[in-house]
Amino acid sequence: MKLEPIAKNVFYVGVNDTSRKMFDAFLPLSEGTSYNSYLIEGSEKTVLIDTVDHIKSEELLKNLKQVKKIDYIVANHAEQDHSGSLREVLKKYPEAKVLTTAYCKSMLIDLLHIREDSFELVVENQEVSLGDKTLRFIFTPWVHWPETFSTYLIEEKILFSCDFFGAHMSNKNIFVSDNESENVIKQAKIYFAAIMMPFRELIKRNLEKVNSLELEMIAPSHGPIYKNPELILNAYQSWTTGENKDKVLIPYLSMHGSTEVLVRDLEKKLRAENIEAVVVDIEKEGMLGIVEHLVDSRFVIVGTPTMLNEAHPLVVLTMNVIRLLKSKIEFVGIIGSYGWGGRTIETIENALGDMEKEYFEPIMIKGLPKTNDLDEISKLIEKIISKIENN
Ligand SMILES: Cc1cc2nc3c(=O)[nH]c(=O)nc-3n(C[C@H](O)[C@H](O)[C@H](O)COP(=O)(O)O)c2cc1C
Repeated sequence: MKLEPIAKNVFYVGVNDTSRKMFDAFLPLSEGTSYNSYLIEGSEKTVLIDTVDHIKSEELLKNLKQVKKIDYIVANHAEQDHSGSLREVLKKYPEAKVLTTAYCKSMLIDLLHIREDSFELVVENQEVSLGDKTLRFIFTPWVHWPETFSTYLIEEKILFSCDFFGAHMSNKNIFVSDNESENVIKQAKIYFAAIMMPFRELIKRNLEKVNSLELEMIAPSHGPIYKNPELILNAYQSWTTGENKDKVLIPYLSMHGSTEVLVRDLEKKLRAENIEAVVVDIEKEGMLGIVEHLVDSRFVIVGTPTMLNEAHPLVVLTMNVIRLLKSKIEFVGIIGSYGWGGRTIETIENALGDMEKEYFEPIMIKGLPKTNDLDEISKLIEKIISKIENN
């Protein structure tokens, strides 16, 4: 690949990973991902911003084929999908110094065994001159690890934000194009929910810092680059500070179809009341269909059969994830089917832990629901409507 310019003497040298189907062994990827790396050629110094996952080292080095010298490699984040090729890059460019913070350095030594003498440490707002271009380091902790920071290229007004503002997509286009912006924001929302949401409060502070910069571009480390930074900044603003919607998320699983009868009745009746309902079959979709709705749903009604005395283990796992991601769900209902008895409700409540929320009366039906069992669903809808009306 030739160097792909994104601004004068600034190049995209990242790689796509179209075959990756899962991230962090929990989030299914519908569009693969990319590991973005950028090269900046100043009049005196050349810098590489982040590297790529170890499995793509060779491709990165191929992209850098015509680059004779690298003076610095900025490591904005110690995670292996961005720093995993540091060793290979340092091997090819042994004179390069890794510019990073003391915290990130210690993590890079722990995680990747980078040699102690490879580093040059930077502090918040420090500027490093590349000749006609200048880097400034903007500390943006907890997006999504404690050591994360961003790098601002002052003259070009580009923020290299690493995982902050990222989206798991392989890049057909390096820049967000008008006709794909809706999908990019959807993918960025999934990414936000799965990766950033647990740190929502800290992200608000980081957003303020970013908003105070003059920006022409935001160049994250996954997914396309924003030439219109407002697009992603406004989206992050609403995901971190916006109101919840009167939306009912219904994650469910049904081994033999009985729980599904309740779920479909609930969905039909909610729609009849013009209430937004998002039904997700956990078995088929896993977390992918769920996470983006955890950002802004007020209601979760979970559907589960009883299995081995408890809620189905995949449903329990999903509830654990809802707790860990610190969603702002306000109301929870449990519906499902059982054969003879068990601690289904208790296992769901335990998995959701001490999240602030109010429970509706659960609806557990023995076997296949009968017509009069569905009256219970109508009563649940009335309770949901009352919560919406009394908001
Ligand atoms: C592997 C397995 C384990 C089960 N364990 C229990 C149980 O411990 N307690 C219970 O009441 N029902 C148990 N059941 C019965 C189911 O809960 C019951 O058939 C229910 O109607 C299934 O709902 P579904 O069709 O939505 O999957 C079990 C069913 C299966 C397949």
